[in-house]
Amino acid sequence: MLQQIEAIGQEFHEATKHSYLSVMMDPNYIDASTQPSVFKRYPHFYQRFPLDPDNPIHCFIRLTSSITWKKFAGNNSYFLRVNPSAGALYPTEIYVQIRGVKGFVDGLYHLEVQNNCLTLIYELVDDGIDNYVLHQQLVKGFIFLVSCAYFRSSWKYKNRSLRYCFLDSGHHLGTIEASAYLYQQNIKAIFEFDKRGLNQVLGLENQEFITAAVVSGHLKDKPVKRLRSQLPFVAATDYFEANPFVEEGYKSTVVPTHLTNISQVKVPGFKFDHDHFYQTVLQRRSARFFGKQVITKFEFSQILAYLDYPLNTDSLERIEIYSIINRVEGMQKGVYQGEKLIKTDDFSEKAGYLCINQALARDSAVTFFFVCDYRNYQTAMQWVGWLGHRLYLISNYLNIGCSGIGAYYDDETQEFLETPKPVLYGMAIGR
Ligand SMILES: Cc1cc2nc3c(=O)[nH]c(=O)nc-3n(C[C@H](O)[C@H](O)[C@H](O)COP(=O)(O)O)c2cc1C
Repeated sequence: MLQQIEAIGQEFHEATKHSYLSVMMDPNYIDASTQPSVFKRYPHFYQRFPLDPDNPIHCFIRLTSSITWKKFAGNNSYFLRVNPSAGALYPTEIYVQIRGVKGFVDGLYHLEVQNNCLTLIYELVDDGIDNYVLHQQLVKGFIFLVSCAYFRSSWKYKNRSLRYCFLDSGHHLGTIEASAYLYQQNIKAIFEFDKRGLNQVLGLENQEFITAAVVSGHLKDKPVKRLRSQLPFVAATDYFEANPFVEEGYKSTVVPTHLTNISQVKVPGFKFDHDHFYQTVLQRRSARFFGKQVITKFEFSQILAYLDYPLNTDSLERIEIYSIINRVEGMQKGVYQGEKLIKTDDFSEKAGYLCINQALARDSAVTFFFVCDYRNYQTAMQWVGWLGHRLYLISNYLNIGCSGIGAYYDDETQEFLETPKPVLYGMAIGR
């Protein structure tokens, strides 16, 4: 008899649910002047390599995390990036191992986003991080690691930041995918590997944790020694307050090491106009309001088709997409699961309410919810973040606005969608 296997991480999703009451009782006011720093920087004596905007391989790395907009508010300035982030808090950092690539010292680098450079934090001899991520394989090319300096997000969002760290990490995978597409690099994302071992050897202590890896390049069947020494701890924020819930939520959703043996890395089969897609990546922004205008049924079906491309990974999560159609020319208003109509009516006010009275969800053409009976919470949340990133890019590519919506009443939304499965992420698109 088949046994029901309890999903890994359920209790952390349950414990971070929003409800009408929870939001009323904890409106979550913060003092903006106490925000921790959003850029990690290794000490000055580490060697740095500027990323040349005219070198395609440098651009491939650079475009995974670039700053694309500077915003002024009062006396402060904020840097927005290719990747969106809940509350623009940017908990994610990127490390990349480079081996056998012309012009680079074989080593492990930290991507210093603020200064568009790679900081060499470890030089390879006959060792590497391959063996933490893959089974007996060597990567000639790149292994990207996405990590979360979680306090940047927990500073504001407390326990719910566990969700936002994973979602932001998924968005960051989406930016790596987009950059790889533009610079014709193959990629494959891996979620289940020896993250604990890496956290330790990279000296991340309890302040930062690895969430995903992306392999890009050629693979050889050859075992690689683990790193010969541990790296020193370097803080990702100027100050730090531990959040035991987030730390436990991360640890409990790291599955026991399951090293993947990947025989090939595939190129996703997208077909975009290169220059237009490049501009879309550079100009991607979150819509801040919608003018209650329609999109067409053709645009909507193009969007769904793009979301339907498989994610380039071995993991086995199954995401269902629910759409509240508010304003799509040629389509009946109502709730759809994929293309199947579930119920009809004008639910725009309801959509706004469910997203904690956010006008974006009410005035949108479509408000989406990603639903999943996950096997592993940490992986599934990153999948929906990655899908969410595709939604941003395809919408912006079609000249349609988009925004992530991480704040919604969990149980009421699930009830409204008439699904037994938890809702992992919301998004809205429109003009
Ligand atoms: C996981 C996630 C959740 C988000 N949730 C909301 C939200 O509930 N409401 C909202 O207006 N924007 C939301 N956003 C959008 C962010 O505020 C936005 O990404 C950030 O301000 C950076 O701006 P940019 O996306 O234009 O670069 C979310 C983004 C992400 C990635």
